Amino acid sequence: MTNTVFFLFGATGDLARRKLFPAIYSLYRERKLGDRFAVIGLARRPRTNEQFRSDVLESIKEFARYNVTKDEQWESFADHFEYMSLDINNVDGFRELNTVADRLDKKFEVGGNRLFYLALAPELFGSVSHNLKEGGLLETSGWSRLVIEKPFGYDLPSAEKLNAEIRQVFEEKDVYRIDHYLGKEMVQNINVLRFANAIFEPLWNNRYISNIQITLSETVGVEERGGYYDHSGALRDMGQNHMLQMLAMMAMEPPSRMSPEDIRDEKVKVFRSLRGFQTSEEVRANTVRGQYATGNMKGKQVAGYRQEDKVNPESMTETYFSARVFVDNFRWAGVPFYIRTGKRLPVKTTEVVVEFKNVPNNVYLSKKHKLEPNLLVFRVNPMEGIYFKMNAKQPGSEGTIVPVAMDFCQSCQVGLNTPEAYERLLYDAARGDSTYFTRWDEVALAWQYVDKIAAAWRESSDNLCLYPAGTWGPEEAHQLLDEDGFRWWPVN
Ligand code: BG6
Repeated sequence: MTNTVFFLFGATGDLARRKLFPAIYSLYRERKLGDRFAVIGLARRPRTNEQFRSDVLESIKEFARYNVTKDEQWESFADHFEYMSLDINNVDGFRELNTVADRLDKKFEVGGNRLFYLALAPELFGSVSHNLKEGGLLETSGWSRLVIEKPFGYDLPSAEKLNAEIRQVFEEKDVYRIDHYLGKEMVQNINVLRFANAIFEPLWNNRYISNIQITLSETVGVEERGGYYDHSGALRDMGQNHMLQMLAMMAMEPPSRMSPEDIRDEKVKVFRSLRGFQTSEEVRANTVRGQYATGNMKGKQVAGYRQEDKVNPESMTETYFSARVFVDNFRWAGVPFYIRTGKRLPVKTTEVVVEFKNVPNNVYLSKKHKLEPNLLVFRVNPMEGIYFKMNAKQPGSEGTIVPVAMDFCQSCQVGLNTPEAYERLLYDAARGDSTYFTRWDEVALAWQYVDKIAAAWRESSDNLCLYPAGTWGPEEAHQLLDEDGFRWWPVN
């Protein structure tokens, strides 16, 4: 059931403009939303309903998958949107909001369901939750759900505090923590590929897989988010959430049923099996961190991180990190998972590569070509697809072996018009499917893992390596794999 009043806190912000309004519009166009819904935009700044609707229209024109014109269809969609200026520290404002919500609920026959989407700084989650309760907004005949954005805390203690504040008001089952990577088509496809095909699962273990690599590279720098990012860094911004979540999807056991709790239980077991670092030396031996310096991106000279707006000119924050991670269980004993992410790298890409072990006896060794390992690659972003690299005879040769690819290019088939992660996640939250949202125990265990790394890095910053913008990060990240006889795929 998607009949819902959406309360969008942070409605004048970037996330609402780039992702949330376009997502709501796509759901509407695809008839997933129906007509029994309302959206209340909330922010401090005064805005009339008309101005707000015109902001929404502009955002949809710029970012949505569907074209929009100011016609009858638009008018009936826009009629569902209202704006209210709200001081989130003032309970009276919340009482007034309750009256507005009741009115819209009646008008659109919603039936009391309320979805509170906090596109706000996490420091505000606690007080907003508290005021929602005090203002009477949770006393409805339908359900009330809280959707929150990352970062969920800065480390384990701050995440625990935040969670305790939220849980005073909402039960865990009603808290939807967004990790937008879990909303991406190809991340969700990891489960399907693994559990709906007979050929992969028998090979999905340390007997056949030599290592797994997860790369999340970006060409952008910190842009206008210097203030947030300088405090956070790549480990917290991407590592604690997106990267460990993808790792868990790759490493988890098949759940007995595809229900949200069964799936999340299996992911939690992976987080529990992560080999935690015991000493700073271990952290240093298994991680690399870097920061971009000025460099050349596609022929253009770009600033180094320390010259970016709102960044400390002596900042020691990492904009790149890579790590060797082990999952200590029967399935994965001895298989390294290499993860890396960075800003100002040469390409924007998210890929998960499974590298298989060599055949037991290479009968082709006498030939001049060394056999390349089989690779199974999930392309998550921006291209979506799966390819499998294997060895074949070069046509016309006398047994020369060359790597060839079986390539399923999803984006070539359905176009780059696949649903945005936020569409999927908003829809799931509205119909109560929490599969692709992170549960508290996952979040806590991920922080526990990451906090050890952050603590060791804090002790001394002499291993922060600078890398020129436009390159693949510090040389040390290549050594990390070299030491084990591997290399990053694609080779760079
Ligand atoms: C966000 C990070 O969670 O993910 C950003 O805070 C990053 O720093 C972004 O740029 C990347 O997301 P995507 O979907 O563009 O790969």
